[in-house]
Amino acid sequence: MAQVRPYYVERGLSAAFYDVVTATDASLPGDIDIYAGLAAPGGEVLELGCGTGRITEALALRGYLVTGVDLAPSMLKQAEARRAALPPEAAERIRLLQGDMTDLNLKRSFQAVLCPFFTLAHVPAGTAWKNTFRTMAAHLEPGGMAAVHLPLAEHMRGPPPAREAIVLDEALPGGGRLQLHVLERRFRERIGRFDQVIEYVERDARGAVVRRSAERLTYYVADPVPFAEQAGFVLDRPPIDHGAVGKIFIFKRI
Ligand SMILES: C[S@@+](CC[C@H](N)C(=O)[O-])C[C@H]1O[C@@H](n2cnc3c(N)ncnc32)[C@H](O)[C@@H]1O
Repeated sequence: MAQVRPYYVERGLSAAFYDVVTATDASLPGDIDIYAGLAAPGGEVLELGCGTGRITEALALRGYLVTGVDLAPSMLKQAEARRAALPPEAAERIRLLQGDMTDLNLKRSFQAVLCPFFTLAHVPAGTAWKNTFRTMAAHLEPGGMAAVHLPLAEHMRGPPPAREAIVLDEALPGGGRLQLHVLERRFRERIGRFDQVIEYVERDARGAVVRRSAERLTYYVADPVPFAEQAGFVLDRPPIDHGAVGKIFIFKRI
């Protein structure tokens, strides 16, 4: 196999085409409405793993003041470009920072802290989850709300598709196409670890390959409730089934 690079690596294709792929994801619509319900309109929200700003931008357009933190410069650059394209009054409501949610202290609190779209699953379900919940608690006053969206283990089991199968085929501006193949997929039940190597292939309008990159996406799954309780949260309501592949857990800081 060609060299496999980490997801969201600089100059990688998972970052470059994150918005293209996410726009096709039928499991996501509606998540922003759930997050918007956790703070009063105009309230301050911290988003851990803000990525390219999909949620950051939408909340700012609804009047929230949003601080977005992400580890990956490749994603933050795109979030910054999206921010710059917004009407000035919405752009001014966004602050973007590079940082690690497992070790973050902005020394201030927010009305809500979000950890959306499987961001927590990117780090191992042990000390890193404990520290991320500690980050969430440190940025909330008692009564403040935290949301964590996690993937379901049952969607990680089962054999991968054939390597030659095109699992996503999307038109790109300019007439080209983005095609995705799954080169490897494995779920290690005992440790709750899912690894998937996805090959991104960008083709021009005549079908010639422009860029190709194999990138590894790793998810860790576990029950977040004990981690949350240890950090001083209670589950605020039953977890929300979201888009059939994940659940959104809403916690309240006590
Ligand atoms: C699936 S994306 C979610 C992006 C955005 N919140 C959304 O819903 O579209 C996950 C993001 O988490 C970021 N991430 C992963 N580990 C992180 C960490 N330890 N600290 C901060 N961000 C992290 C990745 O760089 C990536 O941008």
